[in-house]
Amino acid sequence: MAYNNHADQTEEICLEVNGLWKIFGKKAQEILKSDLRFESKEAILEKTGNVMAVKNVSFSVARGEFFVIMGLSGSGKSTLIRMLLRLIDSTSGSICVNGEDILKYSKKRLMDFRRHTTGMVFQYFGLFPHRTVLDNVAYGLEVRGVSKAERLAKAQEAIETVGLKGWENYHPSALSGGMQQRVGIARALTIDPEILLMDEPFSGLDPLIRREMQDELIELQDRVQKTIIFVTHDLHEALKLGDRIAIMRDGKIVQIGVPEDVITSPVDDYVREFVQDASPAKVLTAGGIMDQPEALLYEWQGPKAALRTLRDIKEDYAFMVSRNHRRLIGLVTLKRLKAVIQNNGSFPEDAFEPDPPTTAPDVILEDLFPIAAEADYPIAVVDEDGRFVGEIQISSIFESMTQNKEVDTGE
Ligand SMILES: Nc1ncnc2c1ncn2[C@@H]1O[C@H](COP(=O)(O)OP(=O)(O)OP(=O)(O)O)[C@@H](O)[C@H]1O
Ligand SMILES: [Mg+2]
Repeated sequence: MAYNNHADQTEEICLEVNGLWKIFGKKAQEILKSDLRFESKEAILEKTGNVMAVKNVSFSVARGEFFVIMGLSGSGKSTLIRMLLRLIDSTSGSICVNGEDILKYSKKRLMDFRRHTTGMVFQYFGLFPHRTVLDNVAYGLEVRGVSKAERLAKAQEAIETVGLKGWENYHPSALSGGMQQRVGIARALTIDPEILLMDEPFSGLDPLIRREMQDELIELQDRVQKTIIFVTHDLHEALKLGDRIAIMRDGKIVQIGVPEDVITSPVDDYVREFVQDASPAKVLTAGGIMDQPEALLYEWQGPKAALRTLRDIKEDYAFMVSRNHRRLIGLVTLKRLKAVIQNNGSFPEDAFEPDPPTTAPDVILEDLFPIAAEADYPIAVVDEDGRFVGEIQISSIFESMTQNKEVDTGE
């Protein structure tokens, strides 16, 4: 299948999964060694009573990447994420973290790995019922042997981060589902893990807190660059958070890609159905829909050369860039340029359109609408160093909203 399930090869790989299988049941090995493994989940269940939960999954995740796993209920997401910590034994395959095969770890090394390298937020909270909120959150530090004063201080901090101040001494049963989920998140955060595994961590939260938690997580990610594996049912959450999204169906990963790819070129009807509610305005970016202009003007050219260029390309504008690094200097319009030539005005200053609209490549279409509404000329796309990287015709913004399949996803 032509999808790229591996992280950008220029990035440092944190997690690499190869040919991973999980079959629940006594006949797991038998099924794996026979042609039965190619049959559908239903057929396998019917013939053997075993469940094909994860089927030959391979992918890698770069350090600092936010990797999202989506799929219908029962598609294998929880099984997969739990195997990454060996909370579920895999039937076959390999899982490497920082280049080490964790399936070969001794018991002791595995404990260490779970305590120091990874933090997990479970789908159904996984809190200790007889411990208070504070002790639940401090648990990860306690098993690491951190002193009481230090772990309670850290736990307190995490509790405040997730908005549960005042609830420290209650037991989980006194908290709503959403609050318990926040306790689980606080517990994972206190240990400051290198890899954060989150299984539908926000699904029990009401929308407002959910958005807040998403924003917090993005901020945390920006700040500390954790590697995050995140399971969710919610497409908008996936699109908001994920650097890449993997979509699972019946234990298989059917597509992996950056959000724009998944939205604009779903590999099959299953994925298409998943993403059909996604608004292109929230996903497509300026960089994804921009074009290269037919010609640019350069700062060392004179007004007549500029006029000649505009006539050649039959346009009434062109962007001027610097000699070095293609920095955007201004937008020259035909009207102003002609006036400069006629009145001997100063060039290029007088030929520039005042305040031409510009945007960064990662701005989403929705945020381009207000700029587009005001713009008389195409919008220049300028990167963080001020370099001109492309232009957006106003009409193409609206076209890509309706026929988003033709958008160049910038692969
Ligand atoms: N311990 C188990 N024994 C047998 N089958 C199991 C076990 N755990 C999970 N399964 C089966 O494996 C498949 C994948 O389950 P899993 O919990 O991974 O799905 P999921 O994608 O996380 O679903 P949800 O979105 O509902 O959480 C399902 O068919 C499930 O019934
Ligand atoms: Mg699950």
